[in-house]
Order: sequence, then C-alpha cells, then structure tokens
Amino acid sequence: MRKNIVAGNWKMNKTFDEAEELISVIASEMERNKPKCEVILCPPSLYLEMATDYADESTILIGAQNVSNHENGAYTGEISAGMLSAIDVDYCIVGHSERRKYFGETDTLIAEKVSRLLDQDIRPIYCCGELLEERESETHFDVVRQQLKEGLFKLTADEFSNVVIAYEPVWAIGTGVTASSTQAQEMHEFIRNLVADAYNNEVAEETTILYGGSCNAKNAKELFENKDVDGGLIGGASLKADDFLKIAHSF
Ligand code: PGA
Repeated sequence: MRKNIVAGNWKMNKTFDEAEELISVIASEMERNKPKCEVILCPPSLYLEMATDYADESTILIGAQNVSNHENGAYTGEISAGMLSAIDVDYCIVGHSERRKYFGETDTLIAEKVSRLLDQDIRPIYCCGELLEERESETHFDVVRQQLKEGLFKLTADEFSNVVIAYEPVWAIGTGVTASSTQAQEMHEFIRNLVADAYNNEVAEETTILYGGSCNAKNAKELFENKDVDGGLIGGASLKADDFLKIAHSF
C-alpha cells in the first residue's frame, strides 16, 4: 500500500548507548507529536533487538540494513531473514549503493535477498540510483530501468506490493548535493511508469517511492511535495533526533 514514509539509515554509526538514547528520544517525541507519516529506523544489526523492543511500545517501525541471500547454513558472519523476522524486524534495506560498491552486490544477488525477505514477511526497501558519470552521460534512466528489471520485476504483482523503492542518486549520497526537486520528481515518475509497464497502473499507484541522498530538514518539504515522492531514506540527517523529526514532520 502506498504511504508516506521517512526512514533513517544509520549505517555503521553510534555506540549501543547512543543508539538507545536516539531511539528513546525519537519514540518519546513521537508520542508527544505524532508525524503524519510512517517512521522507520534502521540501526546496525547488533542493535536491532533493542530497537524492536522500543518499537513494541511506540509507533516506530524497525528496519535492518542488510540480510543474507541464503536461508541458513554455513555462511559465516551472515544474518538470515528468518533471524530478522524472529526479532520482529519490519523492513530491510537492500541494494544500497554502498553495498553495491564496497561488497560487490549485483542486481541478481539483491533479487535473492528480496525473495528471502518476502518469504519472512519483511518488507524490502529496494535502493536504486545512478552514479555521477551515468547522470553526466545521460544514461541515468537506463541504469535505473535495468536495476529495477533485474532486481525486482521478476516478482509477482502480489509479492511486489510489499516492496518499497528508494531512488538514491549515488552522487547525492553523503555529499551535501541533493537532487533538485525537479530531478527527483522526474525520476520518481519514470520509476512509477516502469512499475505500470511491468505490472499495471493500479500497482504503480500503490507503490511507495522514497528519495534518498542528502535529504535534510531544510530540503525535505520541497522534495516530499512532489506528487511521486512519497518520503525519504535519510542517512546523515537521521543521526540527530531533532533533524530527523523535522524531516518526519515535513508532511
Ligand atoms: P545521506 O544518505 O542522507 O547521508 O545522503 C542517504 C542514504 O545513503 O540512504
């Protein structure tokens, strides 16, 4: 179902105590003043169980940042979708550009991760987006089309209805350079049309498409006002409760 979402991707940041403090401040502030969107926090794996305990007492939802493409077995260091499900994780980011770049993740591998998550009723937040050189050579639409085709569009319409898409131009991630409101809307509309082509209009209208890449308390409102931008996946600005809550209150 299409909804407005603000999700915080904490990446590999925060000590355990800092993470607990951040979650508890966000939870109590949200209790006082509830944002008009779904709020998801994605802390490092080690803090997920603590986070889901907090989430039980609040309206916050919890996402993991990664999952294994295997169901179980001899995969040292990996965490399965079943393990995430056992501690009540609601969402999981997959295909983030940092995982594509530093861990060699391909669309095929990411598609396997999506399937493992859906088997466990965990909603994937599927990241796509072009590199700076791809934007400069005007191949950004082709790149995103390919990522979605290989990574997602092999799902049935029923399976796909549980996926959230995050468009994150790689040149905007952690750089302070945000896509303009026009660039974001243009790509989001393109993505929604691709979904309509792969499935149908109804499925496309029901798809949640988030923007990510230097989204902050100052630019969130303008980005979220676009008709095809349903919210944001927030990195740096999700590490401070005040900034993150301002973004969530942009709706
Ligand atoms: P950023 O990161 O907000 O720090 O640019 C976004 C992301 O990587 O999801």
